[in-house]
Amino acid sequence: MSEALIASRMPFVVEVEKGRVYRWCACGRSQTQPYCDGSHQGTGLAPVEFTARCSERIWLCGCKHSRHAPLCDGAHNKLPK
Ligand code: FES
Repeated sequence: MSEALIASRMPFVVEVEKGRVYRWCACGRSQTQPYCDGSHQGTGLAPVEFTARCSERIWLCGCKHSRHAPLCDGAHNKLPK
């Protein structure tokens, strides 16, 4: 399995819509961050699918190291420079 790439050292702030299904990119290779565009093919990694519980603004992990993915947990602050 390949390692996840760091897509961003900051979270992606996005608006989600209640009941809508999203596929968060876990591999860091998508060109449509923070969402999956299929670029994970062949990496052994897969997107994380989630359904928005309500319409709100959320912080999605950009560094792909969050332990609470797809949400940011501040892991980007602990990455080596
Ligand atoms: S492109 Fe990254 S998980 Fe699909």
